[in-house]
Amino acid sequence: MRSFLSISSCHLFYSILVIDSLLAITSAYKPLSDSFLRNISSGGSDFNPDHGTLLSPLLIPRALETAGHVTVQHHFVNFFNNELPKWTMEWYNSTKTTPLGVEVRIANLVFKREPPWTKQGQANWLTLAAHYDSKSFPEGSVGATDSAVPCAVLMHVARSIDRYVTQMHDEMAALGEGGTIEMDMGVQILFLDGKEALDEKGPALYGSRALSETWEMRTNPVGSKYPNALSQISIFVLLDVLGSINPLIPSYFLLTHWAYRNMASLEDRLRKISLLETSPSSAFFSATNESTMQSEIASDHVPFLERGVPFIQLLPSPLPPTADTIEDKGENLHLPTVRDWAKIVTGFALEWLDMMEVWPE
Ligand SMILES: *[C@@H]1O[C@H](CO)[C@@H](O)[C@H](O)[C@H]1NC(C)=O
Ligand SMILES: *[C@@H]1O[C@H](CO)[C@@H](O)[C@H](O)[C@H]1NC(C)=O
Ligand SMILES: *[C@@H]1O[C@H](CO)[C@@H](O)[C@H](O)[C@H]1NC(C)=O
Repeated sequence: MRSFLSISSCHLFYSILVIDSLLAITSAYKPLSDSFLRNISSGGSDFNPDHGTLLSPLLIPRALETAGHVTVQHHFVNFFNNELPKWTMEWYNSTKTTPLGVEVRIANLVFKREPPWTKQGQANWLTLAAHYDSKSFPEGSVGATDSAVPCAVLMHVARSIDRYVTQMHDEMAALGEGGTIEMDMGVQILFLDGKEALDEKGPALYGSRALSETWEMRTNPVGSKYPNALSQISIFVLLDVLGSINPLIPSYFLLTHWAYRNMASLEDRLRKISLLETSPSSAFFSATNESTMQSEIASDHVPFLERGVPFIQLLPSPLPPTADTIEDKGENLHLPTVRDWAKIVTGFALEWLDMMEVWPE
């Protein structure tokens, strides 16, 4: 289900206002060395659709108000509890009445690592997001690319960056550093709920609307660097409809085109040293294209965009032929592409968080 996205000029104007803080962030972005790139794991068999520990539990129907929906919540919670105990967990629960009068429960899940020295309203957040609910029709849809694979990739990213985040925080706390934008970086992973419609046309975006509203209303103490929780998002990276062969990801937003180009050059370097499995001729990003294109697909970034949050949408254009059909299932995934995504998104997170600082070289 698609609908056309229109952005009012007012929102665009507001977006321009955040350009200053973005430029400040730019300066901290540091490419990883080749040896660091070589150390990034692809996740291997954890992305196997039948028995992979990350992906296979997600490949079930998981529409709102179904048993599968609860099962995947447990999958996230157990994974972070067991493997990543330093990440804090926050639920953002709400209810929503659909156009046909059905009340549904929405539960967004957020996992985060905050620098130990930052006070409320001080940290800026690298924010990586995907939605975890599936469509309720056609019945039995498991939404493999939309967005089981994106969720599994984000779990892998969290696991891959965890040790470096710990080391960075420990070293900086010991040195008494912190207090500047480049130093006060946290990371949060959003598993968004209620993206898919139940009884209306087009995407519902219940979870992303509720969360962006809540964070906009959550004001920080007077004198904080950031006025509210929403404004602490340095960049919102949405993973959507990933896992099919030959994705082409355009750049959708002028304000973050520089970050898109960093992703493109990261991908290019990974390919040049033969660290990606997919064919060298099938680059996901366009390293040379200077133009951006407006996204016509309303997805979970929209409520954030409307509130002035800079975003990158990792969504292929055109969409794969399986998108929005019952064929969007495990058998139709292209696993080398899935594993390449795991490496690229992990590498981007490490570069954004300036992890060369803790790489032994
Ligand atoms: C590379 O990653 C592995 C874990 O995947 C780790 O054991 C190893 O120490 C890392 N290498 C360096 C130089 O940190
Ligand atoms: C939010 O809802 C989920 C289930 O939908 C539940 O497991 C969780 O405990 C709830 N959290 C809070 C804080 O209410
Ligand atoms: C550059 O990107 C735009 C929008 O993404 C697209 O329409 C155009 O075809 C691309 N040009 C090339 C040469 O790839």
